[in-house]
Amino acid sequence: MATADFVVVANRLPVDRVVGPDGAETWRTSPGGLVAALEPVMHQVDGAWVGWGGQADLALEPFEANGIRLIPIRLSAREVAEYYEGFANDTIWPLYHDVIAPPQYHREWWDSYVTVNRRFAEAAAEAVAQNGTVWVHDYQLQLVPQMVRALRPDVTIGYFHHIPFPMHGLYAQLPWRDQVLRGLLGADVIGFQRAQDASYFVAAVRRRLKYDTKATTISVPVDEQTRTVIAKAFPISIDTAPYLELIEKPEVQARAAEIRESLGNPKTILLGVDRLDYTKGILHRIKAYGELLDAGRLKVEDATLVQVASPSRERVDAYVQLRDEIELAVGRINGDTDTMDHSAIRYLHQAFPREEMVALYLAADVMLVTALRDGMNLVAKEYVATRADNRGALVLSEFTGAADELRQAVRVNPHDIEDLKDAIMTAVEMPRAEQSKRMRSLRRRVLEHDVNAWSSSFLEALATARAART
Ligand code: G6P
Repeated sequence: MATADFVVVANRLPVDRVVGPDGAETWRTSPGGLVAALEPVMHQVDGAWVGWGGQADLALEPFEANGIRLIPIRLSAREVAEYYEGFANDTIWPLYHDVIAPPQYHREWWDSYVTVNRRFAEAAAEAVAQNGTVWVHDYQLQLVPQMVRALRPDVTIGYFHHIPFPMHGLYAQLPWRDQVLRGLLGADVIGFQRAQDASYFVAAVRRRLKYDTKATTISVPVDEQTRTVIAKAFPISIDTAPYLELIEKPEVQARAAEIRESLGNPKTILLGVDRLDYTKGILHRIKAYGELLDAGRLKVEDATLVQVASPSRERVDAYVQLRDEIELAVGRINGDTDTMDHSAIRYLHQAFPREEMVALYLAADVMLVTALRDGMNLVAKEYVATRADNRGALVLSEFTGAADELRQAVRVNPHDIEDLKDAIMTAVEMPRAEQSKRMRSLRRRVLEHDVNAWSSSFLEALATARAART
């Protein structure tokens, strides 16, 4: 197999295999922000992408999709349960998101995480050309940088962490805390979403491994010498071009009008768009909205909340339970307040293509991003990008990475239900001139700091690291 100069390693391939009722196989874009952010980068380089096809026991040869060379990794059903659903999504995910749900610590899950990380690392080491670059992504693969370095000392290694990194008091719970730090330190550059995440990581390294650190620089002892690792913030963004194109399309604009019509033309459409995940604060949002209706501050004839909650990690207990709680809350509020013509909440447990999402963004007067903790939150940036007329208001949780950049949003602490209610009302009642002033500045930020700016700055840092090594 030909090698590639640039190899991305991520848990998921950018496409998932879907088998239709007739047995026909198709490929669909994978969920989540990671794929959306990286796909445009891959079109600019001669690269390969190492990842999992999204199903257990799928044995596939390398192939090409949308012009990207894909190298599939096979996971057994047991590995999906222990490495993906277990260690990645029931240990690391809740621990790194401020233990909103209790993390589970199981030694078999850790063993499986090590085994699977090694498989990814071996595939990357085989795929990368001499003196090439490997870019590892996210919390599922924290051991891969060190494993690739051991196999291929000639390559430059980057790692980007798409989710938060927790403060030491929480991180210290992890039974394998030192191994994970060492795994990450195999990289030359470790990128985080926020300066806060990077500083928590550097502090953990200093406290646990006792390495010298200075601001964003870590000195890792190797034999009698030291190797320099950079750990700093590179806030991720969106590819703005497809959003700017879609909002100009007459059929997308017509669809936005049709959505408003089908909701009974309320004065205000509020929108929430999330994977169905306990980090997203969906229940807090629904509770606040229900109380506003109860208190008569909002009327069901005037306002509709559209909540898209796309299915996610459906075999993990915490997600099963959350879905039940959300559906109970939605059912209660709708049951208590709906009329024959108007629904308080239009709840959609579905994933939609980008065209439909853009039509929804265009239809929405108020966007609610009220995550309890979120690495970045690209939905907030997508909404802003689509508001070419500078109308609309964004309610944004201060616990998202996006809050560092989107300063003109209506900021909220989603744990404080009264604050959440007031923030929602501020957004609903915001005068046009104020919307316009805020949205103009939000848009400037998103359009200037798009995904190309993100990947260029990360890759520049990697190039500097490479130059320093030689
Ligand atoms: C977040 C993570 C990604 C992940 C995505 C979807 O965006 O940062 O690494 O791929 O969620 O989750 P899933 O478990 O379906 O891959």
